[in-house]
Amino acid sequence: MTFKVLLVTFLALCHGFNLDTENPITFQENARGFGQSVVQLDGSRVVVAAPQEAKNVNQTGGLYKCDYSTSKCEPIFLKVPREAVNMSLGLSLAATTGPSQLLACGPTVHQNCKENTYVNGLCFLFDSTLLKPPQQFPETLRECPQQESDIVFLIDGSGSIDPTDFVKMKEFVSTVMEQFKKSKTLFSLMQYSDEFRTHFTFDAFKRNPNPRDHVNPISQLKGRTKTASGIREVVRRLFHKTNGAREGAVKILVVITDGEKFGDPLDYEDVIPEADRAGVIRYVIGVGNVVIGPDTSVKIFN
Ligand SMILES: *[C@@H]1O[C@H](CO)[C@@H](O)[C@H](O)[C@H]1NC(C)=O
Ligand SMILES: *[C@@H]1O[C@H](CO)[C@@H](O)[C@H](O)[C@H]1NC(C)=O
Repeated sequence: MTFKVLLVTFLALCHGFNLDTENPITFQENARGFGQSVVQLDGSRVVVAAPQEAKNVNQTGGLYKCDYSTSKCEPIFLKVPREAVNMSLGLSLAATTGPSQLLACGPTVHQNCKENTYVNGLCFLFDSTLLKPPQQFPETLRECPQQESDIVFLIDGSGSIDPTDFVKMKEFVSTVMEQFKKSKTLFSLMQYSDEFRTHFTFDAFKRNPNPRDHVNPISQLKGRTKTASGIREVVRRLFHKTNGAREGAVKILVVITDGEKFGDPLDYEDVIPEADRAGVIRYVIGVGNVVIGPDTSVKIFN
């Protein structure tokens, strides 16, 4: 199959534009997608892209410079970096004049991160000669997103939690943990009221990853609701390497509470900045009649 670009020369005149439709110039090239994007580079040249052209095993997309005077096109040489897998080079093109430069982008760079494939983009900035190696943007693709998460449940065992809600809470925690069975996610759990009881650390979970063995024996503490102090305990103790927290993991804290902080000498403002500095992402899940403090998102189960 041959792909053609039909170009009509634009002649700039004093009082507007004239279109020469009598003698169009045809450029053609046997490359998949040829002509999908075109830019005028300077007076005599256009750049035409063939973003679907299969150049090599993992390389898609080709660029051509085409000259009006000869009606011929020739490929623009680009040493494609290894990581630019199937990028559809030239799917978008842009050019500037004075100095004339060409920006050619490949927006479909496939990046495999374990079981997921991410799509990124790369752009290349050529000078007017189109001969020198272009500048690449960005210089490197971003790293694969972090896959590992350390998740702490901080559950409210205070007297204001109805015992049936406490059972639901345990069921919820077990169910969530089971969803992550085959992942590298680690879990840890603290119950709080007046006191702060660590039921299992990341290390304990690593030794025995069966959620119900850890969660079923938990009984409700009763007492007051020191939520802010509980958050500080988790940040300082559970998200610590002595308890098996991993250096590079995403830290997530899930607080499950009815939201009525009670009898706590600390406020949220006293503990949240420390959690932020430690990079702990927080979620609050409300039980019963929820009154939630200033923290992040709220979901309610009842
Ligand atoms: C093509 O890309 C895949 C995924 O990035 C990679 O595993 C493979 O080695 C590449 N093949 C070649 C020939 O470069
Ligand atoms: C790149 O495209 C080719 C041809 O479509 C395909 O065979 C190959 O699997 C693709 N590579 C990746 C890593 O998706």
